[in-house]
Amino acid sequence: METTLVLVKPGGVSRRLNGEILRRIEARGLDIVGLKLLNPSREIVEEHYAEHRGKGFFDDVVNYLCSGSIVAVAVRGTNAVKAIRAMMGATNPLEATPGTVRGDFALTIDDNLTHSSSDPEAAERELALWFPEGLV
Ligand code: CMP
Repeated sequence: METTLVLVKPGGVSRRLNGEILRRIEARGLDIVGLKLLNPSREIVEEHYAEHRGKGFFDDVVNYLCSGSIVAVAVRGTNAVKAIRAMMGATNPLEATPGTVRGDFALTIDDNLTHSSSDPEAAERELALWFPEGLV
């Protein structure tokens, strides 16, 4: 069993895609074990994207995630990290295959609708950041 993090970014929330994304996660047989809608602080977003600090897109991606409400989802299941990454599709939506969230609903890397943890270690770190109160 693995637990991983999905963030529905401001673009996904404003396009009312929360339900569609949660539906796909559950239809796949994965369990939602944490769920919250929030307006994230700059501090938590900078910490979340710490590995990208110093890269050209860091400020843009931080500003973007802080620009509106997001939905944080903790997802548990067998091989959840890989399963979720595959369901979301390639980071660049132009390379995401149809049938993935990005392949079906996104066009640009700056507005790629979701974030998902890259590996189990990242998932543990990110879940502790977004769900410090713990999961059900
Ligand atoms: P995400 O999975 O949230 O992780 C970092 C985000 O930065 C990524 O999705 C994209 O939305 C954004 N981004 C912008 N430019 C790039 C890039 N060149 N490489 C990776 N991520 C990028």
